[in-house]
Amino acid sequence: MQRLLINAGPIAHFAGDGPITGNVVDEEEYISNAGLAILIEDHVIIRIGPSAELLAEYTQAEIFDLEGKAVVPGLVDSHTHLLWAGDRSREVSWKQQGMTYGEIAQNGGGIGATVDPTRTASDTELAHLGIERMREALRNGTTHLEAKSGYGLDTDTELRLLSIAEGLSAIERLPSLDLTWLGAHAAPVGGTIESYAEEVLSEQLPAILEQGVARSADVFCEPGWFSVEQSEDILKASRDGGLDLRIHIDEFVDGGGGELAAELKVASADHAHYTNTDARSAMHESGVNTGFLPGTPYSMGEQYPPFAECLDNNWAWSIASDFNPNCRTLSLPFLGSILVQRNEISPIVALAACTRNSALTTPHPSGLVHGQIREGGIANLNIIDGPWWQAWCLQPGHSPFAATMLEGELIFH
Ligand code: NIG
Ligand code: FE
Repeated sequence: MQRLLINAGPIAHFAGDGPITGNVVDEEEYISNAGLAILIEDHVIIRIGPSAELLAEYTQAEIFDLEGKAVVPGLVDSHTHLLWAGDRSREVSWKQQGMTYGEIAQNGGGIGATVDPTRTASDTELAHLGIERMREALRNGTTHLEAKSGYGLDTDTELRLLSIAEGLSAIERLPSLDLTWLGAHAAPVGGTIESYAEEVLSEQLPAILEQGVARSADVFCEPGWFSVEQSEDILKASRDGGLDLRIHIDEFVDGGGGELAAELKVASADHAHYTNTDARSAMHESGVNTGFLPGTPYSMGEQYPPFAECLDNNWAWSIASDFNPNCRTLSLPFLGSILVQRNEISPIVALAACTRNSALTTPHPSGLVHGQIREGGIANLNIIDGPWWQAWCLQPGHSPFAATMLEGELIFH
């Protein structure tokens, strides 16, 4: 089955290898002029060329006239806590009274408050929550999500969360998933981090490896949660078991996670809000991506992380939603607005951060290139409801997309 999208407006294709770093001076390198057509066969982009030429050549293809609408890649959300139940909305007044994230956790809120409702929710309830969230992500242009466990904090529930997520990733017309085990997210209520870290190593990790559905492991490495040493032990054992590595670091203070991320050469070190410059430089030398999560400081009423330092030093970075009970957005265009309309980042740099750059840390299950629009890549792209590609991040609270092509299928929003 061939499909031909003709008369595209500008296409922000981002074709190329490696991360896009620094300020993009020459936008034309990544944005093609209006008038092109994109030929898709099954779920793959086969050709990109002038509309008249492709129309004459592929006479059997099903044709969609984009009438000059701009096109951007399918967005790749490289950090989400997709599956959990419950509602922590009451914490907003605690935040407004000045309580810190740690104080909220000690007061009966935080991660621990999500564990009980998650453990008691049925598989069907959790699957329905996941499907609703994946639909919401898709409406906002996300075609692939990384999804972490982490609200079970016992072996059975962590296994259950990952196996439910595996089931969701097989559903058609929903974004694909990349699964990460985050058993080391917090100590279960009533337990200590020390004894739980031991249980994670001796019982949970072997069970996760045996189940075989997580592609990566992650740890919340932060003073008050898992120490650098505990994180190192868990991540090294995970790597020995064949998992890729990711890590949460320096969300509230510089706790030494950046140095560990560099040493372990993790795929992505996320939050990285307070990481010192030497550690950032070491991460860069080790090929570690910095995954900024601007929705979290937005939800907490805090300052944004130092995007400019990464730009000035040509370090690789991405943005992701960090969707979780404390940060309930699945809209990467909204995060783009935070970067562009609040942090002086250009729309092209912000878009690269949640397409080509995030895709490099979060591969597509097909093994094909994604986060880019190029021949041989997966046919995941978004059609903007207008002629300007910059509109992708200029409508906070609304999806800017008229339609999304997901693995070759057009889905109209
Ligand atoms: O990445 N900080 C650690 N984990 C999540 C938040 C979890 C929660 O508050 O439920 C994060 O922001
Ligand atoms: Fe997170």
